[in-house]
Amino acid sequence: MFTAADFIPEKYTSTIENGSFQWSAPSNIALVKYWGKKEHQIPANPSVSFTLKNCKTNTKLTFSKKEVPNAFSFNLLFEGKPKEDFKPKIQKFFERIEVYLPFLKEFHFTIDTQNTFPHSSGIASSASGMAALAMNLMSLEKALHPKMTDDYFFQKASFLARLGSGSACRSVKGKVVVWGNQANIKGSSDWFGVEFPYAIHDNFKNYQDTILLVDKGEKQVSSTVGHDLMHNHPYAEKRFAQAHENLDLLKNIFETGNLEEFVKVVESEALTLHAMMMTSMPYFILMKPNTLEIINAIWKFRNETKIPICFTLDAGANVHVLYPENSTKKVMQFITTELVDFCQNGQYICDEIGDGAIAQ
Ligand code: PMV
Repeated sequence: MFTAADFIPEKYTSTIENGSFQWSAPSNIALVKYWGKKEHQIPANPSVSFTLKNCKTNTKLTFSKKEVPNAFSFNLLFEGKPKEDFKPKIQKFFERIEVYLPFLKEFHFTIDTQNTFPHSSGIASSASGMAALAMNLMSLEKALHPKMTDDYFFQKASFLARLGSGSACRSVKGKVVVWGNQANIKGSSDWFGVEFPYAIHDNFKNYQDTILLVDKGEKQVSSTVGHDLMHNHPYAEKRFAQAHENLDLLKNIFETGNLEEFVKVVESEALTLHAMMMTSMPYFILMKPNTLEIINAIWKFRNETKIPICFTLDAGANVHVLYPENSTKKVMQFITTELVDFCQNGQYICDEIGDGAIAQ
């Protein structure tokens, strides 16, 4: 049985004075949603996501040994410029992970980070950002302990990313990642994300995700507040059980390639996530009128064309439009003629299933 103590390292075998690493990590889109958590970023239910390909954070970590290892010390650059308001989140992240990376106070770090997606697009960069930083920190730990196996490297990177932002643990690997213990998914764990361990039907090969930017503003409800609202939520227990059931359904759908069933599970999950927010106390509506316009237009288009296009939502108003690669032409024509008008400044991002973090 795995415990968190398994990621507390023994004495390192090597030393390093200074250097740098660079990793990119993608965003991910959940199909079964993580909403609600216990202490230490343990999810209240298992989730599964598609790792994306184009929406990424690219982070360079430069490090040099300090004279006195007394406190965390780092600079943060976002798109080449100092970014003070990201620092408290990194400080908190370092505090949480220090027990697993005891060298952190021994170095001064410069964290130089940028996203491929537009600044303030309403796309959360916490998953890709925390995953990219965790990968770099693991490269440094590997330099201190060169015998580390690849399995340990990636599992611990996901474990650390989780402590930065829960869903970030699903951004280390591709293409389909499960996070959270689920009875019928071998190797699934509350501590880190694992690659979906069974066959995936060709229907899901290069599955497309076009992200329609409906509202690019700051999130109305931070995910920390959102997860917290699931404590004492009247429907919480039923919802957590449903996530396990939906994961069972998806496991079967990934094997058979049944896209009609895929559409049902994915849209129901998105609406359930929003239903949880609407029925918590305090309550929130995170969809905008244009979110509903888009959903209705997708349903109409699906009915008329029989193309198995569907939507999913994060904790916000933007819509992820999911569809198989072989219908890209028709769906893009539909998006550019009928949906762009509902996007803020006509903006959308074309993405698809991807492979996870990459060393640069
Ligand atoms: O990782 P967090 O704490 O930002 O939570 C993410 C929650 C959702 O995006 C709404 C769902 C999910 O599983 O990604």
